[in-house]
Amino acid sequence: MSSSAVPLKIAPSLLSCDFANIEREVKAIEAAGADLLHVDVMDAHFVPNLTIGPPVVKAIKRVASKPLDCHLMMTDPQRYVEAFAKAGADYLTIHVESNAPLTETLHSIRKHGVKPGLVVNPDTSIEAVKPWLAQIDMLLVMSVWPGFGGQKFIAKVLDTVKAARELAPNLDIEIDGGINGETIHEAVQAGANVIVAGSYVFGGDYAERIQSLRVA
Ligand code: DX5
Ligand code: ZN
Repeated sequence: MSSSAVPLKIAPSLLSCDFANIEREVKAIEAAGADLLHVDVMDAHFVPNLTIGPPVVKAIKRVASKPLDCHLMMTDPQRYVEAFAKAGADYLTIHVESNAPLTETLHSIRKHGVKPGLVVNPDTSIEAVKPWLAQIDMLLVMSVWPGFGGQKFIAKVLDTVKAARELAPNLDIEIDGGINGETIHEAVQAGANVIVAGSYVFGGDYAERIQSLRVA
């Protein structure tokens, strides 16, 4: 159950959209009820996949009306803060496992007018982000190993979500990976309130799928 302090938000991952028709996809997913647009940035180094960079974020920004939640799966996200801020990112989340000097990079993100967030991989303990919880606008808990859409939900990360929710009752806690009409229940029960879903939402009727996540 998400309390009123932290309303439920659905963030479809554009990784699963039809990139040949990105404007149409953005408009369709917004019309279907998306609250945020989750944009997966991969550098082929932090993760074994390569996706999109600032020019494409800028193009998405031109056609989007919902905030862009940019998840930076990068070894050195600190080098790209300005580029993604200028491209129109509304949130920039960086991995605690990256090389970024966290305090400075989170400051830099905020200084650029963007909401900063931290991300933890499935094996990373909540202890790793504790010192920065007061400095971030969102904590993203990965429920798959980052790199690809369509993977199976890793249930043990629910303990991390629960621990985070206890430490930070009012923080936006996002969960990303393997979310569908089933796994949504345990995710929300554990305390996640920002729900990323790629293959599930884009793999059916967008509005029906978003609604099925919302009723959880
Ligand atoms: C995985 C990405 C996710 C991915 C989720 O590395 O961070 O955002 O798109 O896809 P699904 O919902 O299909 O697991
Ligand atoms: Zn993501």
